[in-house]
Amino acid sequence: MCGIVGIVGKQPVSTRLVDALKRLEYRGYDSAGVATIDDGALHRRRAEGKLVNLEARLKEQPLVGTIGIGHTRWATHGAPTERNAHPHFTDGIAVVHNGIIENFAELKDELAVAGAEFQTETDTEVVAHLLARFRRDGTGRLEAMFAMLRRLRGAYALAVLFEDDPSTIMAARNGPPLAIGHGNGEMFLGSDAIALAPFTNQITYLVDGDWAVIDNSGVLIFDIDGNVVSRPRQVSSDAAFMVDKGNHRHFMEKEIYEQPEVVAHALGHYVNFIDNRVAPVSGAIDFAKLPSLAISACGTAYLAGLIGKYWFERYARLPVEIDVASEFRYREIPLSRQSAGLFISQSGETADTLASLRYCKEHGLKIGAIVNARESTIARESDAVFPILAGPEIGVASTKAFTCQLAVLATLAIGAGKVRGNVSDEEEQALVRSLAEMPRIMSQVLNSIQPKIELLSRELSKCPNVLYLGRGTSFPLAVEGALKLKEISYIHAEGYAAGELKHGPIALVDENMPVIVIAPHDRFFDKTVSNMQEVAARGGRIILITDERGAAVSKFGMTIALPNVDEIIAPMIFSLPIQLLAYNTAVFLGTDVDQPRNLAKSVTVE
Ligand code: F6R
Repeated sequence: MCGIVGIVGKQPVSTRLVDALKRLEYRGYDSAGVATIDDGALHRRRAEGKLVNLEARLKEQPLVGTIGIGHTRWATHGAPTERNAHPHFTDGIAVVHNGIIENFAELKDELAVAGAEFQTETDTEVVAHLLARFRRDGTGRLEAMFAMLRRLRGAYALAVLFEDDPSTIMAARNGPPLAIGHGNGEMFLGSDAIALAPFTNQITYLVDGDWAVIDNSGVLIFDIDGNVVSRPRQVSSDAAFMVDKGNHRHFMEKEIYEQPEVVAHALGHYVNFIDNRVAPVSGAIDFAKLPSLAISACGTAYLAGLIGKYWFERYARLPVEIDVASEFRYREIPLSRQSAGLFISQSGETADTLASLRYCKEHGLKIGAIVNARESTIARESDAVFPILAGPEIGVASTKAFTCQLAVLATLAIGAGKVRGNVSDEEEQALVRSLAEMPRIMSQVLNSIQPKIELLSRELSKCPNVLYLGRGTSFPLAVEGALKLKEISYIHAEGYAAGELKHGPIALVDENMPVIVIAPHDRFFDKTVSNMQEVAARGGRIILITDERGAAVSKFGMTIALPNVDEIIAPMIFSLPIQLLAYNTAVFLGTDVDQPRNLAKSVTVE
């Protein structure tokens, strides 16, 4: 996490550095800082908390200088104080860093013995001290950078300024992404291309192990062994997206309401609505012959994968191994080389997901990736990329990326079912016709449920705990509902498979416990009704999210009735009320919806 930027400019850079950082604030917002070189000396401004605080600081104490670096932080090592905020300065060297230096403690001890005095609790500061030590020994800047990088273990995207060279930024990448932007007599550096969008769409991505020397004439890139290498310059499509909230109060609200449009866009890529067929699945993965599929992801993306598992197993009779990415690669799963790995990630940069991908690759599996960021590391390291085409998702809580991931998974499962001979032409056409109805039904739901959602959210905002239940594909959705509520409203919430209720969580149920039950009137409905009876018998307050058929037969508490829909699209349609419930509850509570505390949009550390 953390976002880093750099500019070698013709004009003063501090305002543009902050502008670029704003576009990276999704990566962390615990503190921020910028440094420039002016008149042969390094200067910096830093502030705790969000970028508005840094902006205010810069208004009081402006920074000049036509070269600079900046940072927005998601704290890993050391509290989010101004003292720990980047850039870190030592002996005429300024450093910003995204990632974790795993051997920082050992390096710190070694440097301290040699006399280094550390000002912060961060892992990053060792980078500045290492460089300073090499420079003191008489090593040149380039050689010092190379020598320093050879001492680091862990993940890093780094940008470095040397006070005695006011025309150059040095950068390095191992793990977290780093994009270099080519301008007109100016050069840029950022954690992603969106950060650089106002300045340029001409991007060169460093690959792992690369390091670079950037001045206003261009960039010189070296590989891990110090050989000069050439990396392609490409026109970034990410850069085309200018990000704003439109008429909405928050990005999250905008992204919830965008879903009919983006889901339609995603479906259009995978489905032919003229003859109601799914597009043939990419040749890199032969679904017809797969003995099994391994799916791995984190958080909301994992829950999309869990719903995908139900679909692959049901429609394609394809066994799916799934786990959260942080566990997946450590389980020592016996993997067959004939099988394939499928990795789901909005950002395409999540460290655990990327590590699982590489684990599968090492075991000889073909790799597929369902990503939003098409130029991300996960996309680049995959054999087959399935873009979700959701557009930039800025709200930290994932909404439209989730439903677009589901839309893509549904089409892949149907496609796999077809090539495996489990889905007939008629079934395929019926399923695709259902998918085609989804954007319209999503609009209908979004336009009709807000009054009821507001009523319920007001109630939820007074509750310290909430339980979510669901069966079948509504089980992962229950977990997703709880995740969404807890991350933006800070209300404690748990999601359970409805059948698990009596194996523990029922002990929590009393008249103060709202139990949100997600239950379309599908083949599991009657079973879930029995679970609701168990809750009702103990005085629990049931909020039932069902469809018109379910509402007609339900006698439980408050009901949100959605249109009757086919089973394949129910998870996407039922996502809408759970997202809106979480959003409206958070708004009632006045939390920071788009940037909830302690979170970051892109988790590039393990
Ligand atoms: C929750 C949320 C996170 C992400 C998770 C994975 O609302 O957004 O749980 O889903 O951090 O991120 P990506 O999809 O970028 O790999």
